[in-house]
Amino acid sequence: MKPMGALPPEFVQQDGLLKIGGRLADDWVAKAGDTPLFVYDMAIVAARIARFKAAMPAIDLHYAIKANPHADLLTAIAPLVDGLDVASSGELAKALAVKPAASISFAGPGKRDDELSAAISAGATLNVESEGEAARAFAIGDRLGVPPRMAVRVNPDIELRGSGMRMGGRASPFGVDAVRAAALVNAIVGAGADWRGFHIYAGSQALDPGAIIETQAATIALAARLAGEAGAAPPLVNLGGGFGVPYFAGDVALDIERVGSALGEALASRPPILAKTRFAIELGRWLVAEAGVYLTRVIDIKHSQGETFVIVDGGLNHQLAASGNFGTVVRRNYPLAVAARMGQDATETVSVVGPLCTPLDRLGDKVALPPVEIGDLIAIFMAGAYGASASPSAFLGHPAAIEIVTAP
Ligand SMILES: Cc1ncc(COP(=O)(O)O)c(C=O)c1O
Repeated sequence: MKPMGALPPEFVQQDGLLKIGGRLADDWVAKAGDTPLFVYDMAIVAARIARFKAAMPAIDLHYAIKANPHADLLTAIAPLVDGLDVASSGELAKALAVKPAASISFAGPGKRDDELSAAISAGATLNVESEGEAARAFAIGDRLGVPPRMAVRVNPDIELRGSGMRMGGRASPFGVDAVRAAALVNAIVGAGADWRGFHIYAGSQALDPGAIIETQAATIALAARLAGEAGAAPPLVNLGGGFGVPYFAGDVALDIERVGSALGEALASRPPILAKTRFAIELGRWLVAEAGVYLTRVIDIKHSQGETFVIVDGGLNHQLAASGNFGTVVRRNYPLAVAARMGQDATETVSVVGPLCTPLDRLGDKVALPPVEIGDLIAIFMAGAYGASASPSAFLGHPAAIEIVTAP
């Protein structure tokens, strides 16, 4: 038997039946008309945002829509956050449908001219990642007669300790090296563009509050140093994010209240050049991961050489992350359960596998579950971020997953 992550505490059960957003899992399947499906509980998202706001000092909260760009989710989340961060012109179009351009920022190391043009003409902020990109943006701005809004994305000389994905403290395709950032600010200001400040993103999926506190303090110091070098105070410093969520056995949920009080202290004593600066944190998974459940139906149960395989109708084509093939080095089990036998004692060890012809298609590896029967729904938790949109849905030609967003 191998361990699995803890079920998110937000999910309730009634008489052993899983409820999501106040309705039984079976009801959601009936509403969708089929399996597999994702259900995103917006009440959980709203509660996370409220918790963030209560814990943090007066800073802006941006949602990084790459975590889950479902249109209904964006419509529901947009009024609850201060900004949306996008990473392509496709995401930009989705963001513009729900939020004014002035609150949208666009990061990404390879923005094409048509993407720069779409962002500049809409009035979104480009998080500029290189001198070459800045030059292309100036030229496009001139052609359009619109001064581009530009923040400088800095490849920081700090890393987010313990993060699942480090994006600082090393050679990187993201942002410009800190040593060149001030010169780029001067070029932006000199070109008559609207300089919005700095975007400094050091990593993702960190659960250690100490590491986040340390990185935020270093990020504020770096922003002040770069502002001093450039001789200009940044209107906004985006401090990045990296707030992680507990996917696996032994993971402990991030203590954001601790992070918030340390950030409050760090901002209270910030260097004078940042006195009038606004600060933002951009989060993806911390806002939405726990709100999502992926429901997939058991098609068959097979026994082979002493092992039991529960074969379900959904797999890595929808939920790549749970198969261990997105964002993790070592495969570990996401939390999962039999939706009709919640809270029951485990009686058997089984592997939950999808319908794809690849041994990678494994959603649960030797997990302990209560008795499982053909026709049961298996619920895979922590499925609200990097699920449907981060999975190879065309692989092997199965239908796309259905996605439902509950009313907030
Ligand atoms: C620039 C940037 N912002 C935000 C995110 C969102 O990260 P997470 O979902 O871990 O909060 C990422 C993740 O790669 C990122 O690269």
